[in-house]
Amino acid sequence: MSILLVTGTDTGVGKTLVTAAIAAGLTATGHAVDVAKPIETGCRSGPDGLDPSDAVTLRAACGSPASLDVICPYRFPDPLAPSIAAERAGTLIDLQRLVTLLRARGAVPLLLVEGAGGLLVPITPRCTFADLATTLAAPILLVVGSRLGAINHALLTLEVLQSRGLGIRGYVINRLAGPGDVAADTNAAALAAATTAPCLGELPWLADADELLAGLRGHADGVASARARLATLARDHVDLARLRG
Ligand SMILES: Nc1ncnc2c1ncn2[C@@H]1O[C@H](COP(=O)(O)OP(=O)(O)OP(=O)(O)O)[C@@H](O)[C@H]1O
Ligand SMILES: [Mg+2]
Repeated sequence: MSILLVTGTDTGVGKTLVTAAIAAGLTATGHAVDVAKPIETGCRSGPDGLDPSDAVTLRAACGSPASLDVICPYRFPDPLAPSIAAERAGTLIDLQRLVTLLRARGAVPLLLVEGAGGLLVPITPRCTFADLATTLAAPILLVVGSRLGAINHALLTLEVLQSRGLGIRGYVINRLAGPGDVAADTNAAALAAATTAPCLGELPWLADADELLAGLRGHADGVASARARLATLARDHVDLARLRG
């Protein structure tokens, strides 16, 4: 099994959307893939306890047979960095347990693991997602939320990856602004000139992104059409072969 840790230039930049698209795209092209969202914060209370909406979305994107408890073992109600959300819930996240749980999911060739927020977000008071990637020896896929400020956030993240000797599979640009946004129009070329990290694709701005993600969490027909649309998006806009490594 190989593990790819998906991080972002920030929270809310499209990690779930991009990971869901890649998971759907690989599944549709016959490549076995599974997903994890090992720590989810900002979970609402549902009938079965805290509802991890990213984990539900990702599970549906690839039709994972894993239970939600396996996909998302740590859930917290506060929409905060994991370490702080855990502390406010009166607990601590056990990084070693997390590593063991992720490594135990060895039956699949590729496990896509969505982080929370960005690379240096704390999991415990002293450990971040960069430390998790180091312990797992997992390469990183960086989702660049393409809007004003993205070049700085992307280059900062890439520099930390390099300084820690972490592998970077590449970055995917995810447009967070509609047509005519000059920053989003120019970010891809500026980043390509500023880094040698591979750009694996650019997802367009989607006017109905929220509905698309909600479709994966809805009834079976909605799930099937959302999966098909995401798979097409991934195949059209992401270099899936290079992403698989
Ligand atoms: N390509 C896109 N076009 C338009 N809106 C998008 C796009 N990608 C993501 N969004 C929207 O941006 C918001 C954040 O997306 P998403 O939940 O995937 O981000 P995230 O990085 O996973 O966030 P978190 O840090 O909470 O896990 C959502 O409302 C989503 O619909
Ligand atoms: Mg997410």
